[in-house]
Order: sequence, then structure tokens, then C-alpha cells
Amino acid sequence: MGIAFFDSGIGGITVLHEAMKRLPGESFLYFADTLHVPYGTKTSEEVNKYVKQSIDQITREDVKAIVIACNTATSIAISGLRNGYDIPIIGMEPAVKPAVEMNRSTGKRVLVFATELTLKQSKYTDLVSRVDEQCIVDSLPLPELVEYCEALNFDIRVINDYFRAKLAPFNMSTYGTIVLGCTHYPFYKNILRKLFPDIQIVDGSAGTVRRLSQVLKSADIVNVQAPVKAQTQVSAQLSMDVKFMCSGNEPAYIRKMERALEII
Ligand code: DGL
Repeated sequence: MGIAFFDSGIGGITVLHEAMKRLPGESFLYFADTLHVPYGTKTSEEVNKYVKQSIDQITREDVKAIVIACNTATSIAISGLRNGYDIPIIGMEPAVKPAVEMNRSTGKRVLVFATELTLKQSKYTDLVSRVDEQCIVDSLPLPELVEYCEALNFDIRVINDYFRAKLAPFNMSTYGTIVLGCTHYPFYKNILRKLFPDIQIVDGSAGTVRRLSQVLKSADIVNVQAPVKAQTQVSAQLSMDVKFMCSGNEPAYIRKMERALEII
């Protein structure tokens, strides 16, 4: 039985990749809702419906846990999903809490990138009001970055120009941390690091995979296997242990997901 990862598109591959490194004995299924990507610019009713349809399709496969590797889908649908299925479902949220803690004594601010829909949800606004006592958190949606990512556009000039234009209204020297609160965005982590070498960039992948490990352990459903020995075997191993599926059944998109797993 495998662990399923679900996202609107290829973003959740950033979380899958982390899980493949940390849980080498497991097998994985990755499901992208290609019929409805992107989620971030749709209504919460639409996204709720699409997420449920996707999870129904995933649970027809041989899976023992599902990771909603999408901040938008989690913020809309997680509470409803947890009651509706009898396998563990793990969600994710923007890593605002650790980012605020990192900057408590630095005097710097935190900038959260996430989809418009995530930023509008009470799950997000409640989280910020709970942890942001000093009012240091700002947020910004980056919808075009999801489009670039879906097109596997990693042209440094295009992406640099995009970030410069989007961030022009911000005084970036006042920020200590950028939170990548959408799973598509970590594909651009290295470009961001070069643009802002003094700002820490955090995302939710490692925390989500830690949570997944705990859930598997407490349900006693961990698959243990000796880790791959030679470093050269790692990428072959990574691409072998995952089955890709998408709601639109497009073979070209399956190849895109495989490519994205190599790139990340
Ligand atoms: N990757 C998704 C997230 O983490 C959503 C991107 C989209 O479909 O707009 O929020």
C-alpha cells in the first residue's frame, strides 16, 4: 500500500520529493487534478468539489494515507475530508508560525507568498492573528508563478523580472523571512535565494513530511526498508517508486510530472 500525494498540478511534487528522501521504504502515488488546475483563482465552492472528487478517485487506489500537498485545497477542504474517509489525511498550511518565531528578536518582517484563495480563508487569517503578535506578517498572492510552474518555465530572466515587478512595492530590506505558502513556489527557491541572499526562504515540505511520519508511526503502518546505498542510485530510485495519475489522464502531463520530480 502506498502513500498518496495530491495537488491541483505539479506543485505537490515538492512535498513528494521530500517524502521520497525521508521515507525510502514507501511507495508513492501522485495525483494532479489537471482538469481543474489552478485552484488558487477559483471559488472555495468549486475547489471543495474538485478536491472531494480527486480524493474519491485516489481512495479507489491501494493507498494507506493521503497528503494534501496543496495549501489551497487544505485551507478549503481539510476539515470535511478528515471525517469522510477511514485512512489518515494530512494537510499543510503556510509555515507562518516558525517564520514569526525566527524573527521575534531580529526586528525584521515576514512575507508570505500563497494563492489568493488561501490568503482569503479564515484558516489563514486565524493562523496569522494567533501567531503574529507584533504585526510583522505581510502577504502576497503570486498566481502567475503557478502558471509559469505548470508550463515548466524556469527561464531565469523571465522569473527574475516577474519577482522584481511583483516585489517593487515592498521594501525587501525590512524582511527577514519569505514563506512559500503554495507548493508550486519552491520550484523557484534558488532564484529567490539569489535575488535576496539575506532573506531566509522557508516552505512547509519538511514539516508536512515530519507530520506524515508521525501519523504513519502512530497508526503502525510504516514500511521500513534499507536506504539506498550509493548516491548515484538516488535519482533512479526516486523515479521508480512513484506512480503518477491525473484527473485528465493526459500522457504528456504524466511525463511533465516525471520531469518536475527530476528538476526539484
Ligand atoms: N499548489 C497549490 C497550493 O499549495 C495551489 C496552486 C493552484 O492551483 O493555484 O496552494
